[in-house]
Amino acid sequence: MEKIPYETILDISRKVNIVDVIADYLPLTKRGKNYFAICPFHDDHNPSMSISEEKQIYTCFVCGASGNVFNFVINYEKISFTEAVNKVARKAGIFLDIKTKSNTSSFDDKNNKYYEMFLLACKYYKNNIKTKYGINAIKYLHDRNLSDEVIDNFEIGLSMNGNEVSKLLEKKGFKKEDFVNIGLSGSKDNFCYDIFRNRIMFPLYDTLGHVVGFSGRIYNGEDESKYVNSKESVIFKKGSLLYNYHRAITHAKDKNEIIIVEGFMDVIRLYTIGIKNVVATMGTAITREHALLIRRLSSNVILLFDGDKAGNKATLSAIEELEKINITPRVIRLEEDLDPDDYIIKKGIDKFNTHYNNAMSSIEYKISLDKEKTNFNDFNEVSSYLKSVSKELEKIDDRVVYELTVKKLAKQTGVDIETINDLVKNIPKEKINIIDKRKTVNKDKFVKAEEYLIYYMLKNKEAIKIYEEKISYLTNEKLSKIADKILAFYDENHYINITDFVLYLEDEDDLIKEVLKIDELSLPDSMNEEQINDYIKTIDKGLLKKEINNLKDKIRREVDTSKKIILLQKLTELKKRECK
Ligand code: UTP
Ligand code: MN
Repeated sequence: MEKIPYETILDISRKVNIVDVIADYLPLTKRGKNYFAICPFHDDHNPSMSISEEKQIYTCFVCGASGNVFNFVINYEKISFTEAVNKVARKAGIFLDIKTKSNTSSFDDKNNKYYEMFLLACKYYKNNIKTKYGINAIKYLHDRNLSDEVIDNFEIGLSMNGNEVSKLLEKKGFKKEDFVNIGLSGSKDNFCYDIFRNRIMFPLYDTLGHVVGFSGRIYNGEDESKYVNSKESVIFKKGSLLYNYHRAITHAKDKNEIIIVEGFMDVIRLYTIGIKNVVATMGTAITREHALLIRRLSSNVILLFDGDKAGNKATLSAIEELEKINITPRVIRLEEDLDPDDYIIKKGIDKFNTHYNNAMSSIEYKISLDKEKTNFNDFNEVSSYLKSVSKELEKIDDRVVYELTVKKLAKQTGVDIETINDLVKNIPKEKINIIDKRKTVNKDKFVKAEEYLIYYMLKNKEAIKIYEEKISYLTNEKLSKIADKILAFYDENHYINITDFVLYLEDEDDLIKEVLKIDELSLPDSMNEEQINDYIKTIDKGLLKKEINNLKDKIRREVDTSKKIILLQKLTELKKRECK
């Protein structure tokens, strides 16, 4: 990939607002001048990340993550600097003519071939279902109340009873080991055969909408497993894939709500009744990665899992995972063990919508589960029911919700409101450990002077000139690197300001973090030359001290006596200078 010129990066940065870009990923709230978000770079429970519109910088005051709009996209999406610049540029409506090895610019270069293979297979399957070989498959889908439009929209296709995909990929010049690796083919004695045979094919997509796998359903056989899924690969990880995510993004953001179901047939069914803010876990338990992906869309989450026992289990574990990242989901439970797809077909849209409009709070749901298990004629069972429910009550922040729930429980069990309140009060509180990761280590005066000098170098060209003329080197390696970069930036651009300088640092996260930390030192804005010279003197002393220490080390290690004497003489000279 070509290097993007600094001027271009600067131009893009001026046309976007970091607040808009981050708002595409995280819900933001405004407080005073700044915006705040739950920090995605550590296990955050309160909004610890602040975004400054004025400086176009984000900073987390807990984990210290910080940078500009490009750094955010790099770290959030785990992509390269160039990719992040491209992405941000597109958001700003700028088309960058940056040559990548292939013209499909959003593909990660080294995985390009895998995406291309899946795309090819997808086209092939889609075509099959429209031929005479697809008649039965189409009939099966129509019988399940799925229209041609839905089939097109979800790119549903058909795999054939041969090894056509393997042959096709080989003909297109892909390597055998590659299509075996991603699970489109298996191999035996150097012969490649198709993994998916005579199944209705549902493409699985990553968050950007690239096909990264398939799920194939039987439609005219009984004796095999219902679905065969692609195996995991470098571009397909079950634990971080949610079916339909890329399509749901805009709908979830518009509605500020996201529904999670188990199966992709449920997603497709909900689409047919106009509910498009929905993703599927594809039958696996919700992972932390899933939860974080969900949080990017909305913090209003509805769990709509199958009505059976397994669905209850999945709901409880999803609640737990989501609560860890500060999301309290609502819950819908369908009767008769039905999944959303079957429910809508069997009971109709209206009945389904009644459920949808009356989603329970997760506490209500947990209480209802406990209630089902309790024999209310047995006092001991009532007691353990109330104890278990108290743990949930303790988590309710809203006083009205709390009070109404307690009243309901009192009525249900015949136990006084006060008694229930007491039970809640006696729940041992979880200890919260606040760790200040940014605890300042005691810095020596030399490093402090270097930081102060850089503080002014970032704001004032005179300070840069003094640095260049008088020292041009610092004892602290990181600070020294920063000072050199400031010098280089100034030489090229003949001005200095923090925002543009951070852009110039591209993806050097370490340096960026340090620069932004230094910028937060509250020193007087106006620069006083005398003060700068004081810093220089201190830094000089630091440099000398470092030199002396290095020399002492050398002397200690030197075995040759005559060489040792020369070194000792040098040490005496340095020490004399130190005393001046
Ligand atoms: P379900 O068994 O509930 O499937 O599994 P479904 O969505 O109702 O599918 P239909 O209606 O019978 O066609 C839920 C999800 O679990 C995964 C699939 O992703 C499915 O969408 N699953 C299920 C498998 O991967 N393999 C299976 O054999 C079954
Ligand atoms: Mn089903």
